[in-house]
This record gives sequence, structure tokens and C-alpha cells, in this order.
Amino acid sequence: MCGIFGYIGPDDSAEICIEGLKKLEYRGYDSAGLAGIHSGEFLFCKEVGKIDALEESWQKQKNKLSLAIAHTRWATHGKPTAENAHPHFDEHFNVAVVHNGIIENHHALREMLKEKGHNFQTETDTEVIAHLIYHFYEGNFLTAVQKSLSLLKGFWGLAILHKNHPDTIIAAANENPLAIAQHFDRQEVYISSDPNAFHKPDLDVLFLRSQEVAVICSSKVDVFNHTHERISKPTEKLQLEKHERSKGHFEHFMLKEIFEQPQTIRQALHSRLSIEFGTVEFDNFAFTLEELQGVRRILILACGTSWHAGSIAALLLEDKARIPTQAEIASEFRHKNPIISEDTLVIAISQSGETLDTISAVREAKRKGAKILAICNVQNSTLTREADSTLFLRAGPEISVCSTKAFTSQITVLSLFALLMGRLRHVSKEEGQAFIKELLNLPTVVEKVLEKAPLIKRLAKKYSKYPHFFFLGRHYMFTTSQEAALKLKEISYLHATGYPAGEMKHGPIALIDENLAVIGLCGNLKTYEKTLSNLTEVKARGAPILAIAFEEAPEIEEIATDTLYLPLICDELASIPFSVATQLLAYYIAKEQGTNIDLPRNLAKSVTVE
Ligand code: AGP
Repeated sequence: MCGIFGYIGPDDSAEICIEGLKKLEYRGYDSAGLAGIHSGEFLFCKEVGKIDALEESWQKQKNKLSLAIAHTRWATHGKPTAENAHPHFDEHFNVAVVHNGIIENHHALREMLKEKGHNFQTETDTEVIAHLIYHFYEGNFLTAVQKSLSLLKGFWGLAILHKNHPDTIIAAANENPLAIAQHFDRQEVYISSDPNAFHKPDLDVLFLRSQEVAVICSSKVDVFNHTHERISKPTEKLQLEKHERSKGHFEHFMLKEIFEQPQTIRQALHSRLSIEFGTVEFDNFAFTLEELQGVRRILILACGTSWHAGSIAALLLEDKARIPTQAEIASEFRHKNPIISEDTLVIAISQSGETLDTISAVREAKRKGAKILAICNVQNSTLTREADSTLFLRAGPEISVCSTKAFTSQITVLSLFALLMGRLRHVSKEEGQAFIKELLNLPTVVEKVLEKAPLIKRLAKKYSKYPHFFFLGRHYMFTTSQEAALKLKEISYLHATGYPAGEMKHGPIALIDENLAVIGLCGNLKTYEKTLSNLTEVKARGAPILAIAFEEAPEIEEIATDTLYLPLICDELASIPFSVATQLLAYYIAKEQGTNIDLPRNLAKSVTVE
């Protein structure tokens, strides 16, 4: 979703901001813009679509800027048009604002400002901020910003310019992250919603916390807290992520990332296994074994695909460690008045580490005294800074909006954590060693699934003609079916539902007919026969069935219209190869549908609004 980049210093600020925006592209956006001050007036440029369009359009201006703020927008209030793209201005073009987040009371503020004679140019919530600052400005930029912020309700990361202050950027944050990086020797300062976009070594980075405001000049950064007192903020030198972001020979990032999974699973396992003791050892892990032994309940918080990984982990943790575990959808959790006891461990799962629903849920859990373990892919992300400790996925950047490799790495890392918790309780060394053997076999199993891509492509062609899909499974295969349905709908725009196979007869079976395709996930030995019975009920009602089953699964061909066989692996880990197969199925069906696979409609990679 939206991204902010700003720069003040000796280099051409517009050029640096455009480079910064390119590093934020992965978050998803529909338009982009930038503004700076030149000879006492604003110069700005906004374009719908790719940052390349913004760059091309800006280059026509041929002006260099000593300071600039820039933005990638993912539409919330108002359509994705050039007018609605940021920066937003007051009607006199005195103030420019770029904003991540949502101003919840923008309507009331807009009405109040209209009564005072203000005219609005756009439908966005952000525009009210520029008008408010103009309204309160009496010569002091900071005071005008502080007065304006005191009226806002909602979430924000902001970078603001005033044309009377051509050497200052004001930045502010509330719930949304904003990092400020200084290079003292060069007298330059960068601002970004994601510190990994800085990509320059040796920067001193500080993070604005909620309700803080920074006044930024090239030589210094002054930070003020919610009571307007100047505060000193510690800076840190960050290990910034440097990864190649190219598709290689693959047509889409999604396909590349699907094919990376044998390697990403290996990386997730690397140096974390103690075969001798049948257990797991994590580096830089802040929780002591005594603390882990004291955990009596686990609460998992996550969204989307990460919540699916969490639901699978909940089964694993109860199974291996016998700890009552609940996986909660983060956006629902906060409305529940949750019960968090002293011996509850909260695990927050997020590929990006920037999902606002998950971060808000984590903050709520922290307020209630919980300790937080993050499972995350992105170093320096907001979640990793809020958590007490983080287990990283080591999956490399996931660019595709459709999460694939992060999901299988999440299950891998959570399986390791479940084993560790199990070994601290009831699991014997031998049982631990047996599970490690299965884990080590995973990359090979996934390689064998990937070899089936041509067959899956043929099946996708056949099944892509159906407008509706049910994915059915039991036990670990139930959540796997939900994840498979999510993958299909988000990139093919076809209607798909993941459902517990045994629950069909309690209602949804009414929908079954020859126009609805059923994908039966038969990957768990424990529930295999019962799943088969449910598929028989489906067959009796005329629906075509694609069964995905482990090799040598009995009787399946008598029931299914088509069968895809995958290598056998223990029930607890079967979600991984079965998900790889359904990722490929979703990908090839989307190709048949002709959708934009790397930029599916209405979706963003980082969901930074609630
Ligand atoms: C996955 O394919 C989705 N695009 C989405 O559900 C995603 O998993 C969700 O938004 C959570 O993201 P996170 O893991 O970065 O927190």
C-alpha cells in the first residue's frame, strides 16, 4: 500500500525520491507523485500507473530540487486518478502533504473547513491536512502542524512542506511507521515508510513513534513528543536488506517465488536443527528455555495467508507441545476484549511486518502485558521492532502480491518452534529426530511437486472453465483448502471457498452441481477415508472433482474426475507440498483467465490500513 519517501540534501532530491519510490513499489500502488520547492513555489508532478511514468513526466521539467517529498498511493478515499494522487495541497499551494494511513474524521473536518471558506480539489481524506495546516499557519510551520494533528483521528505517516520554509520537511507519525535516516558528513536526511528503501550504508536511522513530530533540515532533526516537548531519540545503524529483485527467466514474480520454495525451505531450516538431541536451536532468540517452559497458552495473531499459516501452526502446537493454541484473525481480535494471562505467549505472523491490523492487534496484546514472538520475513519492519523476539523466515523478498514462498517458510519455521516447545514438554528425543527427518525431506518433496507443473498446467486449463470452486479438506487439509481458495480468488478473480469437507453436508452441499468444480485435498492419512466419503457425496451430485492425493492413495480414481498425486509426507507437514500444488493450479488458472498476475486488481502487498 501507500509508500512515502523524502529527501533533503546536496543531491537532486526529485531523482533520489523517485529511486526511493521504486524501492517501495513492492507494496502495491496505483499512482505516484512528488513535490518540492523551487524559487519559492511548489513544483510537483503526479501520474497514474507506474513510477516510470512519473519519472518520465518529471524529467520534462528539467529542474533540480534541494528537497522533495514523494508518494506511491493505493486508493482508499477517491479513485486512482492523478488528482487524487499525493502530494495534496491547500487551495493556495502553500502546503504540500504526502500521507500513509486514513483520517477517520476527514468528513467532519472537511465540512468545518468548507464553512470557513475552503475549497477542496479532491475526494481524498489527506487533502484536509493541507487545508488545516494552511488554516493554522501564522508564521510557525511546526505550530501549524501540531495544531492540525491535534484535530485528526485515525492513522498517519506524514511528510509535509510549506513554501515559506524551503529548507524544512516536517514528518509525523501515528500508528503508521516512518523512519528518518541521517548522513551527518554529507548533510543529508532521508525519510521513508520502509527503512529498507534507504539502501545506503552507514546511515543513522531513527523511527518516529506514535504522536511524534520531526522537524527535518539537512543538518539536523528535532523530534517533539505528543506534549510538544523536544525529545532526544536514539539512532541505529541498520543492517539493510540487499536482494536482487528480478524475475529471472520467469514470466511472473509469483511463478519465480513458487519455484524458489525448495531453497527457501532449506534456508528456513538451515543451522536451526539439532539432530543429535532431536530439537531446535534458534540464534538471537530472546526467550529463555525457562520462559518457554512457563507458557501455558499461545495466541497467534495474523491476517490472510499468514493467518492460514497460524491456523496450521495452532494444530501443530497443540499436537506436538500440548499447549492450548488459538489462531485469531488480527482485525477481529481487538473487538473481543481478549483474555491474556501472564503465561500466554502471543505469536504474530506477518511476511511484511507492516500489516496494520496485525500490528494494532500486537499493540493491544502488549497493553495487556503479553510477550510477543514475531515470525517475519522483513528485517527492520515495524513488527520486528515491536516484538520481544523475531524468528525470520529467510525467504528473501517476496514481490508477488500473492504470498507463496513466505507461506511455506512460515509453516516451516512454526513447525520448528512447535518441535522446540514439544521437546521442552512431552516429545521424546526419538520422536523429535523422526520429525526432523520429515522436515529435512521437505525440500525434495517440494521439488517433486514442482516437477508436476506441466501436468498441473493441463489440469488448470481444463478446470479454468468453471466459475465457482470449492476446496475441501479435513484436519491440516482444511486450512490448506482455505489458503488454496484464497490464492485462486486473489489472482484469477474466480469465486472460490475453502471448506471443511465434513461440514459440507450441514449446508453448502446445496450449492453442488455440475457447474461447480470441487478440489479435494486428500493429503492427511488420518482423515483420508472420511474425506473420500465426502467426495463421494459430491460426486453423487454431479460436480467435477479434481482430487489431490498422496501417491498410492487407494480408491481415489473411482471417485475423482481427475487425480493429481503428490509424494507422501507426514500429516503435519503435508500442507506444504499440497499448497505448492494449489499455488501452481491458481497461477495457471489465472493465466488462462488473462489476469495481471503480479499486480492483481484491488490488492496491495503491504496492507497498511485497518
Ligand atoms: C496473500 O496472498 C495475501 N496477499 C494476503 O492475504 C497477505 O497474506 C496478508 O495481507 C497478510 O500480509 P502479511 O503476511 O505481510 O502480514
